[in-house]
Amino acid sequence: METKPVTFSRRTLLQGSLSAAGLAATGTAAAAAAEGEKKRPLTGKMTYQQVRDRARELMMPRCYVCPECNGRGPCVGQVPGFGGMGASRGFQANYDSLAAVQLNQRVIHDVKKPDTSLDFFGTKISMPCVAAPTGGTTYNMGGHLTEEEFVTAICGGCTQAGTLGAVADGIGDPLPVFEKRLDTLKSLGFKAIVGLKPRLNKDIIERMRLAEQAGVVALTIDLDSAGRAARATKGQTVEPKTLAQMKELVKASRLPLLFKGIMTPDEAELCIKAGAAGIVVSNHGGRTLADTPGTAAVLPRIADRVKGRCFIMVDGTVARGTDVLKYLALGANCTLAGRHFVRGAHGGLADGVALFANRMRSELAVAMVLTGAKNIKAINRKMITIPQYTANVL
Ligand SMILES: Cc1cc2nc3c(=O)[nH]c(=O)nc-3n(C[C@H](O)[C@H](O)[C@H](O)COP(=O)(O)O)c2cc1C
Repeated sequence: METKPVTFSRRTLLQGSLSAAGLAATGTAAAAAAEGEKKRPLTGKMTYQQVRDRARELMMPRCYVCPECNGRGPCVGQVPGFGGMGASRGFQANYDSLAAVQLNQRVIHDVKKPDTSLDFFGTKISMPCVAAPTGGTTYNMGGHLTEEEFVTAICGGCTQAGTLGAVADGIGDPLPVFEKRLDTLKSLGFKAIVGLKPRLNKDIIERMRLAEQAGVVALTIDLDSAGRAARATKGQTVEPKTLAQMKELVKASRLPLLFKGIMTPDEAELCIKAGAAGIVVSNHGGRTLADTPGTAAVLPRIADRVKGRCFIMVDGTVARGTDVLKYLALGANCTLAGRHFVRGAHGGLADGVALFANRMRSELAVAMVLTGAKNIKAINRKMITIPQYTANVL
């Protein structure tokens, strides 16, 4: 059944009249909040819908777990929080550009049990989707999970589902906070990627060493967080990077290093010049620069320029197996899911994340049968219809 888009009035929601917005189930959350009852993520047996409902109960007003996470809910403009910058148009563009890509159904072939696995820098993962680095359990997510619980949920759930979790590095986090997250990862033996902030190179290199010791699979640096340079407070130094600085970082890293926040073919080319193992096509979920195009719109031209010369990752509203298939058909090697897995963690800790990830993998397998892709390498542009407006970005 197709889900009808829901439109919200922020006031309606804040007053708790949730049934008017099609979210009657969350009325219990409003009541619980009014009574000051502290909800916790589910444990034990749980369904997809139950995890979403519990996530909503915990995360409102940061995230309302809308039927479609398209940047048009009450989270508009909420950064910190779960929304996008400005009018959330960059976030919405991610959703819209991906939704506009359609799948070409092909059913005359012999693909029955497609192989969804991927070699991710020497680690075999169950599907081409890993967790995106997401930080700020307090200021972005409402403080329902401790740092340790959050890392355990995201990385444990992804490990359960055969893929990789992610550990973030908040701009304001002192080194010991970052170190503690890595200790959690190491002590539980989870495999993950680590997202570093574009700090001064010497500070990045210090964190690289810690990540190496924690058995991390790859590193990302979200260059787009450099927007904070303009309003950085004491002790929070982030900066855009020059090619020379990027080269220094690549040289210093013993792990595959991917630059995140790449939205144009010329910058993808510069990452290759710097020697990067890969790029992450990302506008940070529309959370750094407002009014960017969507990632699905810029990806084809970027892939045309650099595919085969570096590993291409992409993120932006990944929640379903068909989203993964579309991004791969547009030219990515692998995707990342941010908000979706954060909701899984709040609704059901590691089991909630695993449930979401396993569901995504099984949807991907079905979509691969119906488009005739026997494995990940076989996914190509013939499997999609790309809209006319794919960004003409140079
Ligand atoms: C609450 C929140 C926190 C985030 N924190 C980080 C971070 O610390 N480092 C980073 O590289 N990206 C961060 N991101 C961006 C995500 O990695 C990802 O690029 C973005 O959310 C797009 O994916 P999505 O649409 O699946 O959420 C954050 C996103 C959210 C929503």
